[in-house]
Amino acid sequence: MQKTQDYILDYTRLAAQRQYTGLVREHLARTHETPPLALVHSFGCQQNAADGEKLRGMLAEMGYGFTDALEEADFIIYNTCAVRENAEKRVFGTVGALKQYKRQKPGLLIALVGCMTQQQSVADRLKRSYPHVDIVAGADAWASLPERIYQALCQGKRSIKTEGEEPDTIVEGLPTRRAGWPKAWVTVMYGCNNFCSYCIVPYVRGRERSRRPEDILREVEGLVGEGYKDITLLGQNVNSYAGGITFAQLLKEIDAIPGEFRIRFMTSHPKDCTRELLDTMAACRKVSRHLHLPVQSGSDVILERMNRKYTVERYKELIAYAREKMPDLSLTSDIIVGFPGETREDFRQTLDLVQEVGYTALYTFLYSRRGGTKAENFPDPVPPEEKSRWFQELLEVQGRIGEGYMQRQVGSTLRVLVEGPGKGEGKLTSRSDQNIIVEFTGDAGLAGQFAEVEIVSARNWALEGRLIP
Ligand code: SAH
Ligand code: SF4
Ligand code: F3S
Repeated sequence: MQKTQDYILDYTRLAAQRQYTGLVREHLARTHETPPLALVHSFGCQQNAADGEKLRGMLAEMGYGFTDALEEADFIIYNTCAVRENAEKRVFGTVGALKQYKRQKPGLLIALVGCMTQQQSVADRLKRSYPHVDIVAGADAWASLPERIYQALCQGKRSIKTEGEEPDTIVEGLPTRRAGWPKAWVTVMYGCNNFCSYCIVPYVRGRERSRRPEDILREVEGLVGEGYKDITLLGQNVNSYAGGITFAQLLKEIDAIPGEFRIRFMTSHPKDCTRELLDTMAACRKVSRHLHLPVQSGSDVILERMNRKYTVERYKELIAYAREKMPDLSLTSDIIVGFPGETREDFRQTLDLVQEVGYTALYTFLYSRRGGTKAENFPDPVPPEEKSRWFQELLEVQGRIGEGYMQRQVGSTLRVLVEGPGKGEGKLTSRSDQNIIVEFTGDAGLAGQFAEVEIVSARNWALEGRLIP
């Protein structure tokens, strides 16, 4: 599936788009005394947030400044998510409310990009019923966005994507405006081939495609050189990376880059979580002791109907092996409650698994039916109130497990990366190798540095520590 790499484009060589970027820049310089302001908001997962940083980079090249205040914005760009119905509803609501704004500020430019607008039905609906939206592009909009912005801004024309207009690509060389130092995101693969029966991602993000290892290594080296200390490798199925080397080999090569920094990665699919990967994690000093390995359900019947391609037994074996190699490993997972046809007994098996594994944290979701997915038409007899009760039950069970995990950290010494000021006078916020938030009192100058902290107390979501000098 990923043999050729002809899907990789180099942004610096897309002559037409470079030209449009220049024309927009000239237009803005002519019509504005100070740089106009753009508001870029990303919904959804970290991949979307990482894409948002590239959108900002592109807009900065065009001469835009940035704001988080709606009232100040000359250009509002929403990078959307489609994973659950609520996510889509929120976007439609937010965009609907912008109609008023546009009336008061006719020059305001509004764009929607990302996973939701990747669906042509959504693009068509926006075209039809949201005339105040100027630009609609998809999740692979990079190679057309400057042109679309030029059309909307300089020619006063709406630019709405049509079917098949934006093929699956990877665009290298995009300018990036990062937020979040000392942490940085590096997307290493895009798309998903798995077609879990509930999930819309493969339809909106296209087929799996991996970046070249040399491009990734160059980017990480650059980031380390700029002082970034926490590099998160991203992919919808990051461990299915296939850029000519395996994901484990990629980790090894990144681990060998000189400098003190930490490597994280997400999201891993259990079907591609190999022993090679777990051995590599254990052997690489810079790879953090955290594995996000979504299980989705503790029932084999449901896993089969979800098309997850593993059994509970196989998942447990993986966890046992990982823990044997890395006793201090923190495990987190995603769970869907109320998948069509899930019975009380299936759900009880999920509770059992959650208790047996003892996750540090869980991301729990009520099943949301997505149009076009296989599960869309599965019979779904359990009433929503019952599903909500199960959901609450799971939260309570995990609440106790998470609390226990946090309490067990008291008295231990953890290596943390200081991220910046915390809540309260003189407080710093940091993260341990296990990705747990640790707060302690210390000098603000420690931001971006690693420190040793003794844990003195625990709350639900964070640990309180004392800096070891
Ligand atoms: N590729 C990743 C995660 C993708 S989406 C993986 O396979 O783990 C993040 C999470 O959203 C999923 O793990 C799943 O738990 C949840 N999710 C996806 N589709 C959903 C749906 N239709 N309803 C409820 N939750 C869903
Ligand atoms: Fe969705 Fe499954 Fe792909 Fe994850 S692996 S993005 S849950 S289809
Ligand atoms: Fe949402 Fe797209 Fe991410 S659907 S979860 S933003 S890949």
